Amino acid sequence: MQQAVLARIDRVTDDVVALTLAADADEGELAPWEPGAHIDLSLPNWLTRQYSLCGDPADRATYRVAVRYDPLSRGGSEYVHRFLRPGRRLGVSLPRNHFPLVAAPRYLFLAGGIGITPLLPMLRAARARQLPAELVYSGPTAESMPFADELRPLSGVRIVETKRQGRQDLEALAATLEGDTLVYCCGPASMLAAAEAVFPVERLHTERFQPVARAFGPDTAFEAVCARSGGTVAVPADESLLDALAHAGRPLPSGCREGVCGSCEITVLDGAPEHRDDIGAPEGRMYPCVSRALSPRLVLDL
Ligand code: FES
Repeated sequence: MQQAVLARIDRVTDDVVALTLAADADEGELAPWEPGAHIDLSLPNWLTRQYSLCGDPADRATYRVAVRYDPLSRGGSEYVHRFLRPGRRLGVSLPRNHFPLVAAPRYLFLAGGIGITPLLPMLRAARARQLPAELVYSGPTAESMPFADELRPLSGVRIVETKRQGRQDLEALAATLEGDTLVYCCGPASMLAAAEAVFPVERLHTERFQPVARAFGPDTAFEAVCARSGGTVAVPADESLLDALAHAGRPLPSGCREGVCGSCEITVLDGAPEHRDDIGAPEGRMYPCVSRALSPRLVLDL
């Protein structure tokens, strides 16, 4: 965990603020990151929330994130908008990246609303490498779209105001796509579903802020063996592996508790996990906030 000072809060739309987090004077620099990365921000009200980094990766002195006020807030965005003030020291995790910019000769970026945040540094990175990159950025009106003013003057950027222009026709975009283009999409679930329906899966990279509703088999009890520290934890059918480990005195970091942020990632040494996350767990890893076991026991590197 790093410590940072909240240097500035800038209102970028009626319901979005940009936070500039500055490196703690003692530490000098913040940890490096690549476009697509996000951080966990530990708020003074004991909540932890994940935000995509949308500043400049070359700037090691500050991080920039944007926070949209969610009327259904579980306390995170409401706290940021109503109570957070410059000067607060905040805990910031090391950046994690489940949405990396894979090398390609050209890119198409599709953003919806606050989904612009991980795509901003990607667009800049593609431009810095002098690669052809187009951004189609949709939202109800330009005034409601964070960073629209910053983006509008750039070539290859199309701002789509859906209230006036209707939705971008993704099918038409897909039909004109050159064969070696990688498509990066971040926005509301409806936009991600529309993109998944028209772009080839091997060329489409998406990032979700909300889990996809899916059905899994009934939750069953299993055992978790902690190989390093010793001991076996019983995981009842009505409790997550994350909570069972915490109750057994083995708490893990957790941010979203919905299988989208990656902060609770652990290594599985043996057994068959049932992956229920929306990240796509790497081989030998799992996210215990949502994932369970298909085998009677899992052996964990804990
Ligand atoms: S807490 Fe976010 S993936 Fe588990």
